[in-house]
Amino acid sequence: MFQKRTHTCGQINKNDVDKFVILNGWIDRVRDLGGVIFVLIRDRYGKTQVVFDSNENKELYQKALKIKNEYVVSIEGKVRLRPEKDINPNMSTGEIEVLARDLKIISESETPPIYVNKEEDISDNLRLKYRYLDLRKERMQRNLIVRHHVMKATRDYLSSQGFLEIETPYLTKSTPEGARDFLVPSRLKPGNFYALPQSPQLFKQLLMVSGFDKYFQIARCFRDEDFRADRQPEFTQIDLEASFVEKEDIFEITENLIKDVFEKSIDYGKLDIPFKKYTYEEVMEKYGSDKPDLRYEMEFIDLTEYFQKTEVNFIKEAIESGNILKGFIVPEKANVFSRKKFDELTKTAKELGSNGLIYIANGEEIRSNIKKVAGKEINILKEHGIIKKGDVLFLLLGERNKINKILGQLRVKLIKEEHEIKEGVSILWVTDFPMFSWDEEEQKVVAEHHPFTMPNIEDLEKYGEIDPLKIRSESYDLVINGFEMASGSIRIHKKEIQEKIFKILGFSSEEANDKFGFLLEAFKYGAPPHGGIAIGMDRLVSILVGEESIKEVIAFPKTASGTDPMTGAPSSVDEKQLEELKLLLKNKQ
Ligand code: AMO
Repeated sequence: MFQKRTHTCGQINKNDVDKFVILNGWIDRVRDLGGVIFVLIRDRYGKTQVVFDSNENKELYQKALKIKNEYVVSIEGKVRLRPEKDINPNMSTGEIEVLARDLKIISESETPPIYVNKEEDISDNLRLKYRYLDLRKERMQRNLIVRHHVMKATRDYLSSQGFLEIETPYLTKSTPEGARDFLVPSRLKPGNFYALPQSPQLFKQLLMVSGFDKYFQIARCFRDEDFRADRQPEFTQIDLEASFVEKEDIFEITENLIKDVFEKSIDYGKLDIPFKKYTYEEVMEKYGSDKPDLRYEMEFIDLTEYFQKTEVNFIKEAIESGNILKGFIVPEKANVFSRKKFDELTKTAKELGSNGLIYIANGEEIRSNIKKVAGKEINILKEHGIIKKGDVLFLLLGERNKINKILGQLRVKLIKEEHEIKEGVSILWVTDFPMFSWDEEEQKVVAEHHPFTMPNIEDLEKYGEIDPLKIRSESYDLVINGFEMASGSIRIHKKEIQEKIFKILGFSSEEANDKFGFLLEAFKYGAPPHGGIAIGMDRLVSILVGEESIKEVIAFPKTASGTDPMTGAPSSVDEKQLEELKLLLKNKQ
């Protein structure tokens, strides 16, 4: 049928000149110059130019006239140097071409519904319907190749450190990550359901009880939550857990792992470790976000003291009643931002819950919505070098936590709108997250990370059930370029602490037993101190290859509405299957 390749399409170079080679691959492009046809043959390693010359072989030339894009072919020919003017320095094979002496058409192709050899602006639906063609694109091939290297670097590094890769079940019981579960009905126990795991959390803790003191898994996780560019219902974590460790041990393992992944899966150079560490409180005070992108400065400045004795009444009164005045500077925009821009940002600030937004633009002239009343104060800010030429200062007045969050959102909005995406990476740890948060919808205290996270013991003793929102936890996030890349914690291994946490969360012991009884039971039989982390692998790969959406680094992702246009999933099932599962659909529409 076909002759097996001697080389891949990305392999041949000038050292191979005069050799006879056989290439197998897809036709990427055909250029018929009349008498001579130039063809690019492509496989995942690259492309090679092949020449069919009617002067050399008329019959072969006639055959080559039949080939079209995406045909699968086998071509035999002799390697020769390209003429100087035709050398393409952007191709690994750009110095040579192959003069064909045999062509076999292995598979024909209809005209493909999407372009493979160039990027075009088409809908996700169309791309995913023909994903197998979409994946032939150079960019997609590169993305999945990097993904492989990330998995390999992960396995290599963690294995070298004594970690064991152990699989945990997909058909299981609800796990504690707080999203909605995907459920699978059980045929043998009608009316009962498995939940697909939101993470291997409970199983990895059980493995610690079993004595596998260093575990990892490249684990598929399932969460039925709303879609965003950085979220898929089915995604992959690099999940790890270790016993007899402290936070610092997990930081070190993760830092070395991330370093290896950066250095071995792309051409990154050297990644500096250890990463910077900030507490949750620090990042909220400085950037109003628990995942700040530190490639952009715009650190907050608190001007409450500067305005303590101001004669501007509304500011004075607000400060006297315990509010603060805080903001950030956007450099070099004083002559760029229009009045419209200021109005737009004020509208956003109000929508986010502030009373208004103060702006001071130090351009050719001062433009500010408090210029009339605060001329003196603005001068002081200039004299003290707080606002420099070209700066725009934005300020909010209000309750500390609230304005930190609003400023944080404005900062992110301005970064997105005003800054070219900066090269490089910003990596930091955020530690000491609050143990609990207040769920407005449910009107109750919920675990910020999960209920097995070790609380800060001093805080637990000090605030306990009286003021649980003040309790910090032994948890940490790794943030890369403004994305939450990984999350983990030291876990509770003592029954008394676990019981206290359940009590604060309002779980009765029956509820706790019903949900996590198997873990609590296991902890009765000698639980070691342990902790771990899970890295979002899809997010990590997308940062490495510079993609904005994790869809671009997953071979077969879902659309924003959770469907797969190629297979048609999710789809209805036939009556017989429902009958076997003893399921009755309430509304068949
Ligand atoms: P967490 O829920 O924070 O922690 O998840 C860990 C990391 O997984 C990634 N991630 C996602 N990626 C793509 N799509 C999603 N829907 C999605 N959800 C989460 C993020 C996140 O930081 N069991 C704990 C970890 C631990 O404590 O060890 C857990 O799952 O990058």
